[in-house]
Amino acid sequence: PPPPPPPPPPPPPPPFFFHPQAAIRAAQESRGLGDVYKRQDLSLLGEEDRLILDKLRERGKAWIVGGWVRDFLSGISPKELDVATDLKPDEVAEIFPRSILVGEKYGTIGVRVDHPFHEDRVWEVTTLRKDGGYGDGRRPDNVNFGSSIEADLSRRDYTINSMAIDDAGNVIDPHGGIRDLDIGIIRCVGSPRDRIGEDGLRIIRAFRFMELGDKGLRDLDGELSKAISSNLSMIDKISRERVWSELKVILSGPNASSIIDNMRTHGVMDKILDGITHTEISGNSTNYCVNLALMCRTDDSNGEKLSSLLKEKLKLTKQETADIKFLHECRGIDIVASKSMARVFRASLPESRQRDVLDYLSCMGREVSQFETILGSLSELRAGNSPLIDGNILSAKTALKPGIRLGRLKGWLHSCLLYTSPSPRDS
Ligand code: CTP
Repeated sequence: PPPPPPPPPPPPPPPFFFHPQAAIRAAQESRGLGDVYKRQDLSLLGEEDRLILDKLRERGKAWIVGGWVRDFLSGISPKELDVATDLKPDEVAEIFPRSILVGEKYGTIGVRVDHPFHEDRVWEVTTLRKDGGYGDGRRPDNVNFGSSIEADLSRRDYTINSMAIDDAGNVIDPHGGIRDLDIGIIRCVGSPRDRIGEDGLRIIRAFRFMELGDKGLRDLDGELSKAISSNLSMIDKISRERVWSELKVILSGPNASSIIDNMRTHGVMDKILDGITHTEISGNSTNYCVNLALMCRTDDSNGEKLSSLLKEKLKLTKQETADIKFLHECRGIDIVASKSMARVFRASLPESRQRDVLDYLSCMGREVSQFETILGSLSELRAGNSPLIDGNILSAKTALKPGIRLGRLKGWLHSCLLYTSPSPRDS
């Protein structure tokens, strides 16, 4: 008999991320993301991401953790790579000599690699931990380094943030993060009271994770919701800067208005904006300053007072404070759709301010579309935008000394130029 044909060669090993556990693939498929691995294969991990993982794995173990895994499995393009390793911080620093100490005490090293374009980029590499208590409600009292990824995952805040991807591309998911991604629930790892009691920032983070862009919103698990409402005082323990940096992200999202409604229902906004009248966000701006101003539009204070209160509560920057002040002062104005108004508007405000105020007014239901059309079709001023007459000549001709009256006259002449746009000869 002829010899049996040779067995077919074994299939090539699947590339990284192409062989997730069947359960994960099924979960992805069940929510219409079945080809997420094909769409987002290796190219998602940048060259340096791989280099860092590979180098750590030459000496120890390393997993991708945190928001990267959450976003990757949700079909969202992940941002920064967070890495967990069983190597100690000094061993990590030895492998990457350009590392900086981000929170060495807490086991986090900021790794920098030699790259002509990315020399300042920092990757957070954290040694596996099993934390001690959180005495101050913000950071662990003491950190005990561990050797088990499962123990490390169990100290994290939400199930969707407590997954890891190992060197074979398998997802380690001891707390049902994939299920919760699938059903769109934010659920704590273990007891919500304990998790929220450890770190007040997790309250605001929970609302941030509700945002799903055009896929809508995730829900808070019922127990988490109760734990938030009964532990609002935890918010007082977090720095205002950290509150603002999370709130800013929420206010920049496409579903900001629904998330803020939810935060208001839970009493979170009363706590953050204590003493400021706030209301729902109308419209659907993704400009965080516009949204903050909209939220405070029913407050009676003038722009100066409101913006300085917000500055104090949220540690706003100078620019943010000025933007809020300006918007709040504009809340009563009616925009007249005329060429002259559009010329004055264009001449007196920088472009970003023009966009903000129109966005703000339109979110409040004011009619601005006609005005926007006029603004878009406006020609350049025929005689240019410089003052009609030099201040010294004006002073000599009118016998007005430099001061408020001369200033007003100059201002009035300039507004004539803007309102009527005369020809150079007429002007
Ligand atoms: N973490 C936590 N409690 C916090 C902050 C963070 O348990 N108060 C854990 C979570 O597992 C989180 C990880 O540390 O996923 C990394 O935190 P961070 O980088 O601050 O946020 P991400 O969840 O990664 O989200 P993003 O990248 O969108 O900021």
